[in-house]
Amino acid sequence: MTSRMPSHRPAATMQHAIYLSRAAQSFTNDQLQDLAAAASARNAGMDVTGLLLFSGGNFLQVLEGPSPAIAPLVERIARDARHTDLRVLRMASLPKRTFSAWHMGVLNVSELRPVDAAHFEMLTRILFAKSPEHSDRAVRSLLRRFRAMLPAAAAA
Ligand SMILES: Cc1cc2nc3c(=O)[nH]c(=O)nc-3n(C[C@H](O)[C@H](O)[C@H](O)COP(=O)(O)O)c2cc1C
Repeated sequence: MTSRMPSHRPAATMQHAIYLSRAAQSFTNDQLQDLAAAASARNAGMDVTGLLLFSGGNFLQVLEGPSPAIAPLVERIARDARHTDLRVLRMASLPKRTFSAWHMGVLNVSELRPVDAAHFEMLTRILFAKSPEHSDRAVRSLLRRFRAMLPAAAAA
């Protein structure tokens, strides 16, 4: 029997994931840019946007996009041997993207002002030591700060 009820197809909800990890190898700036370019091309196909920060041997990445895409993407990235100790700091629904102009904006934070690199490295040390619930506000302020530094030319 066919249903006469209208089929409700809610628009896919949006989610973001923020994780921290340790690089398992050294990364030259070129290697980092290559990694981000490949990620960006893949993300474009999944309607995923975000930010990748790297400094002091640590990555901090934001992934935002349709909910069904995010958890499997984090799992795939977590299996990548180029980094280790991946810890998800936040996985939550998202009313609005923060990085809509970047399929994967990237900043090699160690090449920015020393004060910015020091801020990032201090926060990553704290985040590795603390439970994620305590880190939300610090992460959000860090992301706001680095979002303002993303080159508009990186928009994909
Ligand atoms: C720090 C880091 C960030 C990454 N970010 C992404 C990303 O945003 N999107 C993506 O598709 N792959 C990303 N990758 C690459 C994936 O881990 C993986 O190599 C790639 O998606 C290909 O997956 P496959 O070999 O299972 O096909 C990232 C890898 C690393 C080390």
